[in-house]
Amino acid sequence: MKFGFSLLISILCFFIIPEISAEWFPLDSEQNIPTLKEFRKNQELLVECMNREIDNGEHRQDAKGNIIFKPFPVCRETGKPLSLKYGVSEDINCTIPLTDEMYHLFQLYVHEDAPFSCRLPISAEHDSVVNGNGYVPMDLNFRGVLSDSHTHIDTSMNLLIVKPNNFNSIISSVGWSSSTNTTRYVIGDYMTLQFAVRWLDVESQRGSGHHFKYYNDGFYSLPKNINDQGITASQLLFYALITVLFTGAGVYAVLYARFNKRLIRDLGFKPVNDFGVAKKD
Ligand SMILES: *[C@@H]1O[C@H](CO)[C@@H](O)[C@H](O)[C@H]1NC(C)=O
Ligand SMILES: *[C@@H]1O[C@H](CO)[C@@H](O)[C@H](O)[C@H]1NC(C)=O
Repeated sequence: MKFGFSLLISILCFFIIPEISAEWFPLDSEQNIPTLKEFRKNQELLVECMNREIDNGEHRQDAKGNIIFKPFPVCRETGKPLSLKYGVSEDINCTIPLTDEMYHLFQLYVHEDAPFSCRLPISAEHDSVVNGNGYVPMDLNFRGVLSDSHTHIDTSMNLLIVKPNNFNSIISSVGWSSSTNTTRYVIGDYMTLQFAVRWLDVESQRGSGHHFKYYNDGFYSLPKNINDQGITASQLLFYALITVLFTGAGVYAVLYARFNKRLIRDLGFKPVNDFGVAKKD
């Protein structure tokens, strides 16, 4: 009786509760893994961003209901919209004019009323990008302080892009303000964004271990110690310090006794401990 009841519930649940299943991201419009073509190192990647309404930050859509993406604003440095070089970690400056519209959008971004939503293509083949959902999001989290007459913005941006170690596509990316400074802006100013673009070549973890159509499935998590990618200045300093301490301790141990004995014998010197208090014998 009881068993029958739970069986009935189970069967009902099976039909009512949709099965939780993992699936590949991104899929194209036919729900298949999009056709990917590897990027060449150095290949230009256009950064595109969502077109937003300046009064409420809502995204704009075309007649078919598709969200409209436009190239990132034109940088004065290059005369072209911001683009990245595939696989190249570099620092890029991009100076954009704070037109009335741009200034108001930045107010929304800094106030976190709307995200500055950009995207990067995951394939060098333009057709698959157009037909399918061949992008990963790259939100730019600008921080700052708003006031009535002006806006302070931290324009130093870290831009992190994770790529699979065995295929030249992109898994994920994000950008965020990361300095101790903000700069004051009013409408009509030019704003220089300083991007530190860093590519991370990552091996998939915690997946089925399968090599899928193009690269391994799984979580492309960052290594626990990102600094393992190479010895860093702080690690060097740490090792140097350890070496100095051990060498110092060794020298101290060898010489301390000898010198003290001599001092005590020859000069009647009373040894002091590390706290500067005379030892009581
Ligand atoms: C970007 O601009 C800053 C400030 O003007 C400058 O110090 C820096 O060298 C520039 N970086 C590059 C990569 O041009
Ligand atoms: C940050 O601001 C200080 C002055 O407040 C300035 O000296 C310094 O150069 C600025 N640093 C950067 C990275 O802009």
